[in-house]
Amino acid sequence: MDPLVFVIFGASGDLTRRKLIPAIYELYKEKYLPEDFVILGVSRSPLSDSEFADKAFLKSGFIDLENEPKERVADFTRRLFYQPIATKNKEDYAKVKVRLEDLDKEFNTLGNYIFYLSTPPSLYEVIPECLAAHGLHQKEGAWRRLVIEKPFGTDLKSAKALNISLLKHFQEEQIYRIDHYLGKETVQNLLVTRFANGIFEPLWNRNYIHHVEITNAESLGVGSRGGYYDGSGALRDMFQNHLMQIIAHIAMEPPISPDARSIRSEKLKLFKSIRPIKEEEVGKYVVRGQYLSSTIRGEKVSGYRDAEGVPIGSMTETFAAVNFFIDNWRWSGVPFYVRTGKRLPTKVTEVVISFKKPAHQLFTRANELTGSHNQLVIRIQPDEGLLMNFGMKVPGEGFRVKNVGMDFHYSDLVNAHVPAAYERLLLDCIKGDATLYAHGESVESAWEFVQPILNAWENNPDIKMYGYPAGTWGPLESDLMVQPAELTWRNPCKNLTADEGYCEL
Ligand code: BG6
Repeated sequence: MDPLVFVIFGASGDLTRRKLIPAIYELYKEKYLPEDFVILGVSRSPLSDSEFADKAFLKSGFIDLENEPKERVADFTRRLFYQPIATKNKEDYAKVKVRLEDLDKEFNTLGNYIFYLSTPPSLYEVIPECLAAHGLHQKEGAWRRLVIEKPFGTDLKSAKALNISLLKHFQEEQIYRIDHYLGKETVQNLLVTRFANGIFEPLWNRNYIHHVEITNAESLGVGSRGGYYDGSGALRDMFQNHLMQIIAHIAMEPPISPDARSIRSEKLKLFKSIRPIKEEEVGKYVVRGQYLSSTIRGEKVSGYRDAEGVPIGSMTETFAAVNFFIDNWRWSGVPFYVRTGKRLPTKVTEVVISFKKPAHQLFTRANELTGSHNQLVIRIQPDEGLLMNFGMKVPGEGFRVKNVGMDFHYSDLVNAHVPAAYERLLLDCIKGDATLYAHGESVESAWEFVQPILNAWENNPDIKMYGYPAGTWGPLESDLMVQPAELTWRNPCKNLTADEGYCEL
């Protein structure tokens, strides 16, 4: 693996100590990193190298260093450097350049740099431009990569503008748009489930699948992030990025090989096949909601509008359920239902594939529970695993059918280190593999789908915002969305297999 300097812009921020440094340390510990690597934190705060090391690593509180060998901690610490600059001031980037050249000499890092933008989005255009002004965006015989955190734009127009601006200085191959859901093992496993098995793919189409559901639920509210969240909402915060990526993994055609180019081009094709929801159809296909105060297990929980940073009378959605169709040969006529929300009963993300009922119902005598949809449940988190529901004969007289489950849990795999999402993604970027990063065009396509919904909500006051009590599965209207009327969402529990009646929340 090539030596490198990992440059973090916004290094004094929360993400650096919460996710980035812990992930890099884990990679280092597991010996995934080259011997010659160092980290340069860049930010406005006036910190020294050792103050940065304290803040981001030694005293961050996000890595348990108690039981780590002292030499390992010391060796990692000596690789941490910090450079304060005025991030908006082009001239100041000369300091970054000098610092990088010094590090190259001292650590033999050969001019290979990753620039990780962990800054407010308002700097996503500024930093690449300033880097380019000092010739830091490219170098003969070395590589330069740029990692951009979400949100990638706040709407279609700003996402396009950001792409144009980045491409002025960096090539598409150098740009890594991060979506932490793509780093989750279980999201990657969606591809393996589909394409490494002979049994699923033949059934994976309109002939056998009745409908597809995706639920992404969080039990927490917006907490102290109200200021950010109110300008975003569930559709921008979760759907446009993370959920669109899951949809792509579920619905795309088989790529010709597992490389970045093939997978990204299938995803793009898929996004282009999703039938757009026109502004005037939004009331029919999309339900939005906002959580209200309620009492959960005896504890009073406040509503969204009472959260810090949220204006009184806010019309930002904390819940969204979308019903859409994919206009291609595989999916023609198959409804997709996707919902996401804060303050729902539990934290869970899962995909449910509901297969069609048997063509001929054999066991339909009174008293017999028959003909339910076989379901394949793919659990992204928690209790990661797979569950297949099917009908089985109840022992005894007649032909009574009961729904039973066959399940696999990741926790049954012994000795498997399941890497955190950031670990996997950072390692891929270090290796130069962009498979799990979003392509510019595909981010724009995802925005194209979401934009008319945002427009309708903004322009049409007749579209209702439903309140739902915190701790429930969102507005009743979202339950009615699933058709035919006798069907509804699978309301999952923490535990993959418990989906009936009451469960631990
Ligand atoms: C982030 C959103 O991208 O994803 C948050 O901004 C959300 O609002 C989070 O809570 C969920 O991520 P995870 O990995 O906990 O499901």
